[in-house]
Amino acid sequence: MKTEAGSPFDAYLENCRERVETALEQALPMESVQPGELHAAMRYATLGNGKRVRPVLAYAAGRALGVEPERLDGPATAVELIHAYSLVHDDLPAMDDDDMRRNRPSCHRAFGEATAILTGDALQALAFRVLARDKTMEVDAAIRIEMIETVATASGSRGMAGGQALDLAAVGKELNLAELENMHIHKTGALIRASVRLGALSAHGVSEDLLQGMDHYAKCIGLAFQVRDDILDVEGNSETLGKTQGKDQAAHKPTYPSLLGLEESKKMAERLCSEALESLQLLDPRADPLRWLARYIVERSR
Ligand code: IPE
Ligand code: IPE
Ligand code: MG
Ligand code: MG
Ligand code: MG
Repeated sequence: MKTEAGSPFDAYLENCRERVETALEQALPMESVQPGELHAAMRYATLGNGKRVRPVLAYAAGRALGVEPERLDGPATAVELIHAYSLVHDDLPAMDDDDMRRNRPSCHRAFGEATAILTGDALQALAFRVLARDKTMEVDAAIRIEMIETVATASGSRGMAGGQALDLAAVGKELNLAELENMHIHKTGALIRASVRLGALSAHGVSEDLLQGMDHYAKCIGLAFQVRDDILDVEGNSETLGKTQGKDQAAHKPTYPSLLGLEESKKMAERLCSEALESLQLLDPRADPLRWLARYIVERSR
């Protein structure tokens, strides 16, 4: 993969980011609509400066199976809305107590805690509204319901919210490798896996082998994403990250670097990337963006 400016991956990323930015912009109520403060906070927490990895995964998974991006704006928007909600709540004083997010004051720092709580609630609800109502998806009702169920499961107590509960319960404790993996697979992996699944569900008549390969890919990169996040918390810098570096250690969170050390954590991310790529073997070059994304996830510096 070439990562310098002008590479096919950069162009692909940019294109997907622009698409989802427009779709998010349209899905979010304007500040001029009452209650203006809540809508302002929802837009603040969602628009601008996110990497948009989950939407790009949804577009790339669809592309791998021949689905046009025009039919994937709904799923891409929905997964980013859930993600934005999860960040707003993750930063709250009762959770990670973070002041900075995406190079700006976190939502509760800008709008107050009560509005930040409601912002998360409303972003989550909007995600499901988009999945239920979006007209551009061109999927039949059964697939739409399957998508809604996929995102609900990935976000709830058996997915992201459950993983966040494990994370909070683990503060100050030493987890073993299996427990740490379980926490990461849920708090971060579940929504990433759902993003790929939404893209795949948008295609018709795909063989079970292909779907299973893509799901295994998604499991691997979902875990790798949080391993890399943990590594960057140790060796990244706050300005590039857009959030305060060193918070995991300060808050006594068990992480991959705290359990395995930095070098072993990097090897682990690398192994997960290789395993992800292997599971795409049955897919043709239309799946290249998925391949580029696997490398991007383990090599990124923000
Ligand atoms: C950060 O997610 C939270 C985790 C799940 C690790 P991202 O690294 O995708 O954050 P943004 O969306 O680019 O800000
Ligand atoms: C967050 O994990 C996972 C979410 C569900 C948001 P972190 O707490 O490590 O994410 P950052 O480092 O604050 O972005
Ligand atoms: Mg957290
Ligand atoms: Mg956090
Ligand atoms: Mg982190």
